[in-house]
Amino acid sequence: MIGLTKADDVLKEIERMTENEFLPIIGPDKGKFLVEAFRKVKPKQVLEVGTLIGYSAVLIGKDLDKEAKITTIEIHAAEAKAARENIKRAEIPPEVEVIVGNALKVIPTLRGCFDAVFIDAEKSEYYEYLKLVEDKLHEGTVVVADNAGIFADQMQDYLKYVRDSGRYRSRFVQVGEDGVEISIKI
Ligand SMILES: C[S@@+](CC[C@H](N)C(=O)[O-])C[C@H]1O[C@@H](n2cnc3c(N)ncnc32)[C@H](O)[C@@H]1O
Repeated sequence: MIGLTKADDVLKEIERMTENEFLPIIGPDKGKFLVEAFRKVKPKQVLEVGTLIGYSAVLIGKDLDKEAKITTIEIHAAEAKAARENIKRAEIPPEVEVIVGNALKVIPTLRGCFDAVFIDAEKSEYYEYLKLVEDKLHEGTVVVADNAGIFADQMQDYLKYVRDSGRYRSRFVQVGEDGVEISIKI
């Protein structure tokens, strides 16, 4: 198809893989809201927690410019390796650093500030990821949390915090049976 980029090809390929195997990627429907939320803040520094095989990193990265950098954390080395390969093939503009490790250990070692964060790893740990990264966020940083519909029970502490702490302006966006929680640091 005319106009499709290498990133589009990689995304389509991964989407097709989900027809035959369980791959918990964000997918194109929820992904649209993730990309829109990030586009509004034009992030230069992006943190992703939960890389899997790089689908969301490619989706985010294809919308950013080459001054941006994505840091993404994945606990499993095999997934991280596949992600690096997919990201390389996608030829997206930003630099992408895939860090292998437990986000609970890795986040405290990260330097600098993040303009946008995508949380999509162990659902019961969302609150801990956010608290660990919170001193690296600034007013206007956008934090998107996946599966805030189907796994809301497992992330009750996270959802209560972003909605009621007064530190974020937060809304749930329903997409099909699931949804994303989009929170702006205030
Ligand atoms: C839902 S998948 C991520 C999907 C990916 N964001 C996408 O949309 O393409 C969750 C990933 O988080 C990883 N994960 C789970 N707990 C983690 C942790 N504590 N630190 C880093 N990665 C973790 C899992 O191995 C899995 O690959």
